[in-house]
Amino acid sequence: MLIRGKVGLRAREEDDVATLRAELYNDVVNSARAEGGPWRPVSAKDPRLETDGQSDETHVPFSVVEPENGTLIGSANLWGIDTHNRFAHIGVGLLPSCRGKGYGTDVVAALCHYGFTVRGLHRLQIETLADNTPMLRAAEHNGFTREGVLRDSAWVMGEFLDEVVLGLLAREWNQTH
Ligand SMILES: CC(C)(COP(=O)(O)OP(=O)(O)OC[C@H]1O[C@@H](n2cnc3c(N)ncnc32)[C@H](O)[C@@H]1OP(=O)(O)O)[C@@H](O)C(=O)NCCC(=O)NCCS
Repeated sequence: MLIRGKVGLRAREEDDVATLRAELYNDVVNSARAEGGPWRPVSAKDPRLETDGQSDETHVPFSVVEPENGTLIGSANLWGIDTHNRFAHIGVGLLPSCRGKGYGTDVVAALCHYGFTVRGLHRLQIETLADNTPMLRAAEHNGFTREGVLRDSAWVMGEFLDEVVLGLLAREWNQTH
């Protein structure tokens, strides 16, 4: 398990699937805001819930747990892994009861450790809605820079919203870790 502060990142297990599906991916508004696409009914075969972790080289899904007792608190992933440009995106989704407690900042740190140190990537990127203050803050606490605003780039539940692109380079991460 990859442990950073208050969180551990481990492989997705079968026992996680029902909770993540019910509390995270079946939540229409959360999904529409967090996933960059329309909410759809979530099947048991949805790639976000896969448990073998082997089906797609460009995507590494983790379950997020409290390391001391193993309680499931959410999902995290590295996606769009590009081994030529050594680049990937970060995604995080915490269960509703686990938000606003500082876990998100530690999850981003654990994903950075995985991306830069374990995988040798050069750049990590986050795209999030411009009004998603918790995600913006969790990213900036880990050294991410706001690189731009994509105006009206996301259609979310009946309106176009701006997205912010944030980036962090390996050399910037290494200066602080
Ligand atoms: C986004 C998310 C991962 C952030 O994790 P979190 O554990 O809730 O955030 P943290 O507790 O680490 O807080 C990070 C910062 O945001 C602030 N914050 C937290 N919740 C907030 C809220 N509702 N409104 C404003 N600020 C908030 C915290 O005060 C903290 O800032 P500070 O340290 O400068 O005071 C989590 O809220 C989540 O899973 N949300 C739903 C899914 C989602 O939006 N995913 C991101 C898609 S790109």
